[in-house]
Amino acid sequence: MSTRLVLLLMPLILLGCAKPPPPSASGAELFDYYCTKCHGEGALGKTFFGYPSLLDKDLPPELIAHVIKRGSAERGNKHQHRDEMPAFAMLSDKQVKRLTDYLIKLRQERLSKASTAP
Ligand code: HEC
Repeated sequence: MSTRLVLLLMPLILLGCAKPPPPSASGAELFDYYCTKCHGEGALGKTFFGYPSLLDKDLPPELIAHVIKRGSAERGNKHQHRDEMPAFAMLSDKQVKRLTDYLIKLRQERLSKASTAP
């Protein structure tokens, strides 16, 4: 490979290795980093692969927080997915709260958009 090509690709390679978000990251940033790979952009799910949308039902905040911290193993397989949701025990309570608030806000925004649609 020519040096020029390597130099050209370098920024792309570096951008690909995203660092974990800092402790102060917002709910949206945390979600993008930790959750979109399964639950998709904007939490709409990848239902074909068995990853549920997180906006299509009224999930109580305690449940969201519990699933983030502990994973889904103890809830049994509710969505016919291939794997279970892993636990994110490394997230602090504050980060879990920010994620939970973000998901609830996202769902409310979606509901209010749906009800004002022509
Ligand atoms: C490796 C894939 C994967 C990742 C990453 C992941 N999830 Fe999940 N998640 C799942 C699967 C699979 C389920 C369905 C589990 C079940 O059927 O009980 C699920 C279920 C959930 C549920 C319960 C939904 C319901 O309908 O009961 C919530 C809430 C949730 N995830 C939030 C998150 C959040 C927030 C993150 C990021 C911190 C995240 N998930 C990251 C795979 C993942």
